[in-house]
Amino acid sequence: MKRAVTPGTFDPITFGHLDIITRAAQLVDEIVVAVAASPGKKPLFSLEERTALAREATKHLKNVRVEPFDGLLVDFAREQQAQVLVKGLRAITDFEYEFQMAALNYQLANELETVFIMSPPQYMYLSSSIVRELASLRSPVDQFVPPLVADALARKFVE
Ligand code: PNS
Repeated sequence: MKRAVTPGTFDPITFGHLDIITRAAQLVDEIVVAVAASPGKKPLFSLEERTALAREATKHLKNVRVEPFDGLLVDFAREQQAQVLVKGLRAITDFEYEFQMAALNYQLANELETVFIMSPPQYMYLSSSIVRELASLRSPVDQFVPPLVADALARKFVE
């Protein structure tokens, strides 16, 4: 069985993430969406909230499972017996960081192959941080995230 891990902070999951996950799910038998604790990023949503939102947003994809993780990505991927790491690439700005991460992960676990999927043009500019900023300014985010995520964002910013 070919299993891929698609890691991220998913704070929160966006249509850009969902596009990559959906396309990756057509290439392998199973996708594990790995929601990183990422404490250094001080996420807006807790790990439990981010995991629940990603689960709900991907529940229509039958070969996709969502799991939280804390620690090294390569350790999690090994635990899951995955052979592939899938990352989305938006613009050149992502490249340097992703190049570094792919090289590091290869050094740590050379049995894991990192595969990049290019974002389609309509999501090239989209990021969780942009969505959080728009929501914090009370701007509608319905074109960027599923309705349950838009609702969760609206609730965060009235709290
Ligand atoms: O969505 P993001 O925040 O760009 O995702 C980054 C992520 C979670 C994929 C990356 O930070 C990661 O792999 N974190 C887990 C810890 C790890 O393995 N770091 C690399 C070695 S320092």
